[in-house]
Amino acid sequence: MELIEEFKTRFDIDLKKYLDSIQSEDVVSEAFKYSILNGGKRVRPTLVFLGAIANAPKRTGFDEIYEKVRDLAIGIELIHSYSLVHDDLPCMDNDMLRRGQPTTHAKYGAGMATITGDAMLNGAAEKMLCGLNSLESVYDYRAQVEAVRYILDCSGIYGMVGGQAIDIQNKELTLRETIQMYKMKTSALLRAALVAGAIRFEASEYVIKSFEDYADNFGLLFQVVDDILDKTSTKEVLGKDVKKDAENNKATYVDLVGGIENAKVNCQMFAQRAINAIKLIEHRISHADVFYDFINKMLTREK
Ligand code: IPE
Ligand code: IPE
Ligand code: MG
Ligand code: MG
Ligand code: MG
Repeated sequence: MELIEEFKTRFDIDLKKYLDSIQSEDVVSEAFKYSILNGGKRVRPTLVFLGAIANAPKRTGFDEIYEKVRDLAIGIELIHSYSLVHDDLPCMDNDMLRRGQPTTHAKYGAGMATITGDAMLNGAAEKMLCGLNSLESVYDYRAQVEAVRYILDCSGIYGMVGGQAIDIQNKELTLRETIQMYKMKTSALLRAALVAGAIRFEASEYVIKSFEDYADNFGLLFQVVDDILDKTSTKEVLGKDVKKDAENNKATYVDLVGGIENAKVNCQMFAQRAINAIKLIEHRISHADVFYDFINKMLTREK
């Protein structure tokens, strides 16, 4: 896990630099910075990095790997953070607390929060494409474009946006439909992150397929743990208001499988499936052990 900590430290410095580079002093820029710099676990940027280190040629240095995926990692954190700003709006989950602070709409109003989310999505695309012309080789150029295309595909109606659209309709879903919805609203961005990092280092189709499988199960585990924490945690620990799913009449996976204990057992199963996906390619990638540690860390996370 040392590698992950090293990445996160570096990433947070560069994320701050990126935000400092936004010169404008208007309210939307202030709200933009507010929505990103207020903490967050940075799970998606970490997965970008994992996808990269797993596929980088042996003996490639940390700096070289990091530089290649930095803009993708910033871009995906912007997309994720915009999805949270919109998810918290009064017309969606109506939440007042996020990452231990008032939500963007609570501080700046719903209209400004909507526009801030729009600006973040736009900023993500700009950030991921801005360095394109300075890339040295045609391979790098193609890989960057392909990674961005993959990320945008997972963020839209076939992925995160599509999942959120199903979620806000509050229909009675079967367990199968709920799993499908979670794969879209939550797994898709995690998959985008891991695969984008891998594409950047020209991973094979076979490795990418296994990464997709790992990330899908990672996402299911991640969302079910989120649902469990909503029921069991406190707002001090979680940094968001709790018992919100019930308040919003949302039947989550936890309710559908008959409670927290069953849900926890199923989380173990998702973790095992994710581990199995990596076992298949263990001999083809580096740092498989970090993939196992990371999924186990998600099983026991408290926030
Ligand atoms: C929250 O994501 C939304 C879900 C998909 C459950 P995170 O739990 O990764 O949120 P931050 O970025 O750490 O605040
Ligand atoms: C995931 O679901 C949200 C997104 C995909 C943006 P939730 O609505 O459960 O996330 P939290 O609990 O508000 O973080
Ligand atoms: Mg929601
Ligand atoms: Mg929510
Ligand atoms: Mg939740």
